[in-house]
Amino acid sequence: MDLTTAINTTIKNRRAVFPPMYNGEVIAYDVIEQILENALWAPSHKQTEPWSFKVYSGESLKDLSQYSSNWYKANTPIEKFSEKKYEKTKKKALQSSHVIAIIMNRHAALVPEWEEVAAVACAVQNMWLTATAYGVGAYWSSPKYAIHGDDFFNLEPHQKCLGLMYLGIPVDGLEFKAERAPLEEKVTWI
Ligand SMILES: Cc1cc2nc3c(=O)[nH]c(=O)nc-3n(C[C@H](O)[C@H](O)[C@H](O)COP(=O)(O)O)c2cc1C
Repeated sequence: MDLTTAINTTIKNRRAVFPPMYNGEVIAYDVIEQILENALWAPSHKQTEPWSFKVYSGESLKDLSQYSSNWYKANTPIEKFSEKKYEKTKKKALQSSHVIAIIMNRHAALVPEWEEVAAVACAVQNMWLTATAYGVGAYWSSPKYAIHGDDFFNLEPHQKCLGLMYLGIPVDGLEFKAERAPLEEKVTWI
């Protein structure tokens, strides 16, 4: 496959693949490292490179599972609490091979926050596309337990968690329905 076909195919085939769709296999270390390496090549204004990552795998997935389900229980009013959602939250990390916490490191004196959020999002897209190319299922999750997880993730005052990337090898035979609005709706040629 030539480079243009490879990039077009990878971009179009990238899907949000959720933990219940993972088969329990552990992703090879080299693949995770390449996913992280490709994140580093995202653009950033004034080269602030505002991304950093905390990788959960093996035993530490149990800590994340405990933390996320406890957070949900502690922060959900009793009348809104759902046992099903609690169990689903608890299982997510355990169904995953790796979970990567996506951290933004602010450079408030240099650039506005939106530019650093955008740069981190570019890094996440690099990771997501790399995962797709390697046959790894992934999705960017932005639950409150992650966004408010400063203590759990041991963040410094200039850092913010922008969510979690859950990763695993997809079970065989998954089929995805994906649609996008057509180009004519999104583009005005001047
Ligand atoms: C910034 C961001 C945050 C997201 N947070 C969540 C989330 O919390 N829960 C979820 O189910 N999906 C989340 N997603 C994934 C989207 O739901 C998914 O990308 C969208 O449905 C389009 O599907 P596709 O990625 O398969 O094309 C997030 C995506 C982005 C870009």
